[in-house]
Amino acid sequence: SETEENLISTIQEQVPVTIFKLLRRIGDLADEQKVNVYLIGGIVRDFILKRPNEDIDIVVEGDGIAFAQLLSAQLGGNVKSHEKFGTATWTNLDGLKLDIVTCRTEYYDSPASLPIVRPSNLKEDLRRRDFTINAMALQLNKSYFGTIIDFFQGREDIKKQQIRILHTLSFIEDPTRIIRAVRFSLRFKYELSPQTWSLAVDANSMLRQVSATRFLHELELLIKEGTIVAGIQFLEQLGVWSSLFDVKVNNEIISTLYQTDTEDPFHYIVALLFPSKNWRKASLRYALSAKQQSLLKQLEAIAKIETNSDLSVGELHKLFSVFNKENVAFYALLSGNRSLQNYVNKLNHIKPLLTGSDLIALGLDPSPKFSELLHQLYCLQMDDQITTKDDALDWVKTLL
Ligand code: CTP
Repeated sequence: SETEENLISTIQEQVPVTIFKLLRRIGDLADEQKVNVYLIGGIVRDFILKRPNEDIDIVVEGDGIAFAQLLSAQLGGNVKSHEKFGTATWTNLDGLKLDIVTCRTEYYDSPASLPIVRPSNLKEDLRRRDFTINAMALQLNKSYFGTIIDFFQGREDIKKQQIRILHTLSFIEDPTRIIRAVRFSLRFKYELSPQTWSLAVDANSMLRQVSATRFLHELELLIKEGTIVAGIQFLEQLGVWSSLFDVKVNNEIISTLYQTDTEDPFHYIVALLFPSKNWRKASLRYALSAKQQSLLKQLEAIAKIETNSDLSVGELHKLFSVFNKENVAFYALLSGNRSLQNYVNKLNHIKPLLTGSDLIALGLDPSPKFSELLHQLYCLQMDDQITTKDDALDWVKTLL
């Protein structure tokens, strides 16, 4: 029995009254149009979990695009449709975006035969989804409003606190689901079901086929949820990093990951690969943006610079000031080079004593030499040879 529970009062508690009224209105219009309309995906899960979610995904058993157009004709706003996929985004007058997809109500046994109405097509749509907890629907039609449709025991898995795929090819068809499984597991503190776990392990090498864009996007979602390091460790248990990068995530790497504080997932890839010989080549595939490419280039260049512990911070500054400060800091973290870490630390704390306008006030004509002069002064500051503004001004005067 997949349809006994009704969530009307839960929905009422969970969403603002404007959205509640909108959902009821959508249900009424669905009746007028004689189509079945459902909420679907994460928002249904989150109603049951009583977690906030205002991401409204709608499935229409019938023509989704026509239904979106009806909504905008009746309630205002505008529709962007993608005929090829039978999907539409309706933006209502409040600027709220609702995604509307079609699940076909008919199919053809063979190209020549007549369409046969199949009311259970919603089930086929749900079956294609990632996990049981994300594969529930909630009907919006008036007399069924708030009814949960749960063909795959999503509610039972919520009770069992488990992430479970719907069919054995799920991870093969979409390997990013391995990372999604980890993300949901960490978010809800659910376990992967034993079969889901072992199929994730079996499919881990499929992540090689995922585009860098999609792969980075999944890591970015882990970063946004604050679970990137736990996520990387989880993926290690699933054999992802050895299969993908031939890397074993040891304590040293984990410690580096914890200190990697950025929104850019590429840094985490580099941190994983850095101990490997071919880290530059292996990370190249994931360097997509100009910023990521420049990070990689600078790391390569920095790695080539020979330093020894005898160099003062001022001398290190002479070598490293041409690079982006964050990139030098990241290299210092990756390499564990103490004197470089000490230098970066000092760099963050020491503010220049003079600026170009101080030099002008001393009667100097602005010229490209300014930056060289200020650079030299800053190196002296780094080595604590000049510590006050007066000393800095005296130093400039002696040069004149
Ligand atoms: N989905 C899927 N496979 C994916 C991505 C998404 O089957 N690789 C399905 C799931 O049913 C999911 C829905 O599409 O619930 C919407 O995707 P998304 O917005 O990414 O997921 P949410 O469950 O809404 O996740 P979140 O709570 O993080 O927004």
